[in-house]
Amino acid sequence: MGKIKLTGRQKFLTGLIGLLIIYELEFAVHTLRTPAVTGIRSPVFYVLVSLVHLLILLKFLLPNWNPHRKWLGSLLALNFSLMLATQVVWLVDASTTTAISLLLPNMALTYLRAPDFWLLVGATFNKRTEKLAVGIGATSVAVELFSSYIIGGETPSVMLLLHLLATASRLTIYFTWPVLTRPILQKENTFMQIKFEKNQSPKQKPADQNALGFGQYFTDHMFIMDYIEGQGWHSPRIVPYGPFELDPATMCLHYGQEIFEGMKAYYGPDGKVRLFRPEENLARLNQSNDRMCIPQLDEAFAIHAIEELVKTDRDWIPTQDGTSLYIRPYVFALDPFLGVRPGNQYIFAVILSPVGAYYPEGVNPIKIFVEQEYVRAVRGGTGFAKAGGNYAATMKAQRLAQAKGCPQVMWLDGIERKYIEEVGAMNVFFVIGDEVITPALQGSILPGITRKSCIEMLRQKGYTVNERPLALTEVLAAAKNGTLKEAFGTGTAVVVSPVGSLVYGDETITINNFEIGEISQWLYDELTGIQWGKVADPYGWTKVIA
Ligand SMILES: Cc1ncc(COP(=O)(O)O)c(C=O)c1O
Repeated sequence: MGKIKLTGRQKFLTGLIGLLIIYELEFAVHTLRTPAVTGIRSPVFYVLVSLVHLLILLKFLLPNWNPHRKWLGSLLALNFSLMLATQVVWLVDASTTTAISLLLPNMALTYLRAPDFWLLVGATFNKRTEKLAVGIGATSVAVELFSSYIIGGETPSVMLLLHLLATASRLTIYFTWPVLTRPILQKENTFMQIKFEKNQSPKQKPADQNALGFGQYFTDHMFIMDYIEGQGWHSPRIVPYGPFELDPATMCLHYGQEIFEGMKAYYGPDGKVRLFRPEENLARLNQSNDRMCIPQLDEAFAIHAIEELVKTDRDWIPTQDGTSLYIRPYVFALDPFLGVRPGNQYIFAVILSPVGAYYPEGVNPIKIFVEQEYVRAVRGGTGFAKAGGNYAATMKAQRLAQAKGCPQVMWLDGIERKYIEEVGAMNVFFVIGDEVITPALQGSILPGITRKSCIEMLRQKGYTVNERPLALTEVLAAAKNGTLKEAFGTGTAVVVSPVGSLVYGDETITINNFEIGEISQWLYDELTGIQWGKVADPYGWTKVIA
């Protein structure tokens, strides 16, 4: 069961919208009592305006009503344009004015018709920047304030006060719209209590945030939870970071029954700490668990545990541009037993590592070695799971590629060595002509969360993105005929990594003059902007946790 949990700001805004609805209905009644009033000053019009507010209010009071944001944007735009229209009518006092509104995705147009003039008022809700809407909202409020001044001359001061109050409410709502549209339905907190043992000897934090590198430093605490067959997951605790004591026969050391995840907490310039799509990581963790016969975790609880841990070690989150706190959840079989069978005991642990900016001097394209002998995974195997063994299998080819001056390997399919799969520990995209192509997920490729986000962003921007089998020969032919525009890898660690060249046998194919392409740059800027809270998050992907 979920329940609605409003933040303080959302409660305040709910109250304000409620007030506006009462105020507008009051207007409707007022105009009812004035029979001469027709058209835009009619009761029907005011009821319509209050209905728009009511719908906005319902959006976050009805837990299961989750309309697409573009239609919420339309409602907001309708509200803007209707209010602007009303204000114009107040100013010109054309009592026979009528208004017709047209609702479009993220946009509304209101056409005003009076005996001696007509006017088209439009409002658009810019989902990405949310700026234009605010601009129009501010204009509407300015006109409203001006008309308050006119009403002030002919109505009692209580009315004027009410009007000013409504104006201020509307202004607040327009400017805090992103707060309203954030998901507010939260799970009932029936989570197990997490025990806390404070680290009494905290470590010295790395002084130079430019030299953090990746995965070298670990924070003062870690999260641990145990599983025993018959008892389930239990004893969640945040404890001082430290070694596990393992029996030499611990199953995961012998049969590799282990899975992990990789995600990050970002410290934004606004001082807030955000997670990026954590529910995706936990869903993938459970898919990996399923493949490796590891018991499922309660995803919401695991996210809660991660949040509590990050909050505990909040002071470890690096603040310099591009740095972040890497989060590593993992599960491994603990039974002291030799013999191939799924374990009966497990540990779920989460550790944190402050990491440096991947590209301190700007995004750099890399040289990729096309691996024709070794493969990473095969369909039917464990490629789609984030299982430790998958990574062990890649090290040899990785080492050989590095000896040839290529930092990463491009993996081909395990059967025909014909189709492109991934690049290093990243998903890969190619832009050929006007098509953006990424290999389809068919069981051997990790379903990357950055991959999924990039696909959604590109489609939203109007690009044609196809998830399909992509033969290496198609890429080579495109490079020859000049239609291969750019290529890039995607992953949590790097976000977007442009492919500068492909080394294939004796051939080297240079892509986009070894420079970052237009699409790669846009994705990198946009995605990092969202993750660090520097630009609006129209997708609702980030979760502020502290
Ligand atoms: C093999 C592999 N492919 C792709 C990815 C990218 O996944 P994500 O975008 O979720 O980080 C990773 C990331 O860790 C990976 O290990």
